[in-house]
Amino acid sequence: MSTTSTPLISVVGLCKRYGPRVVLDNVHFAVKRSETVALIGPSGSGKSTLLRSLNALNQWDAGEIRVGPYTLQADMAAQRNGAAVRQVRRLLGMVFQDFQLFPHFTALDNVAEGPRQVLNLSRDEARTRGRELLDRVGLAAHADNFPHQLSGGQKQRVAIARALAMQPHGLLCDEITSALDPELKYEVLDVLADLKRDGMTLLLVTHEIGFARKAADRVVMLADGGIIEEGPPEQVLDAPRSERTRQFLSRVLA
Ligand SMILES: Nc1ncnc2c1ncn2[C@@H]1O[C@H](COP(=O)(O)OP(=O)(O)OP(=O)(O)O)[C@@H](O)[C@H]1O
Ligand SMILES: [Mg+2]
Repeated sequence: MSTTSTPLISVVGLCKRYGPRVVLDNVHFAVKRSETVALIGPSGSGKSTLLRSLNALNQWDAGEIRVGPYTLQADMAAQRNGAAVRQVRRLLGMVFQDFQLFPHFTALDNVAEGPRQVLNLSRDEARTRGRELLDRVGLAAHADNFPHQLSGGQKQRVAIARALAMQPHGLLCDEITSALDPELKYEVLDVLADLKRDGMTLLLVTHEIGFARKAADRVVMLADGGIIEEGPPEQVLDAPRSERTRQFLSRVLA
């Protein structure tokens, strides 16, 4: 049985190089079930690399990643269609900055496609689930719109609904509000706040320091190959111990 104290995600000694450049240097990291973790850090510090590793979207050189009962080793990440990789991707949905919707599918078909193809739901079951999820993200009226007929904020909410349609245990979100106008960010952040209330596990790469302060249970600062500091938002964001964190925050908040 899962409890809130069992980590959903554990990263053990993760190392990742691109050529001579060491991006992640023996990173240890865990996310508990129902926890919301904000991952912050300067550009190029490896936030996306870490997030993508969790879904085996990139390979790594050493260390392992455990998600629920599944373990991915460095060499297994190369097995893109291996059973463990498939299971991990079922447990962790991913949402990207640039939405990555299917342009030729309506909002509803974008959400229903995964359940039909991967979970083998019937067309009707998948569409019923799709409509429920579009309703949940406030888009019931837009089910038949194509992505080009939606605002950025609406597209991102479709992408969240699409990830939720696979009934994941956690969501990995990589700067999902960065491409949005300020007023559209809030509709996406409100959806995340709702998911958090419902107990979803969330790992968010974000530059929205205000949102991290309000919504995150824990803030993790990544820089120079590793985790510089982590803790509750009021500690890391308002009273950082590390000069590196202070410097980063002063730039982001400037
Ligand atoms: N496919 C790749 N090939 C070579 N180098 C890469 C590749 N992907 C990322 N890198 C390098 O790895 C480092 C970490 O990149 P990553 O995208 O994880 O950073 P990030 O923290 O997400 O940055 P940002 O805030 O700009 O999104 C960077 O130096 C980047 O140039
Ligand atoms: Mg990134």
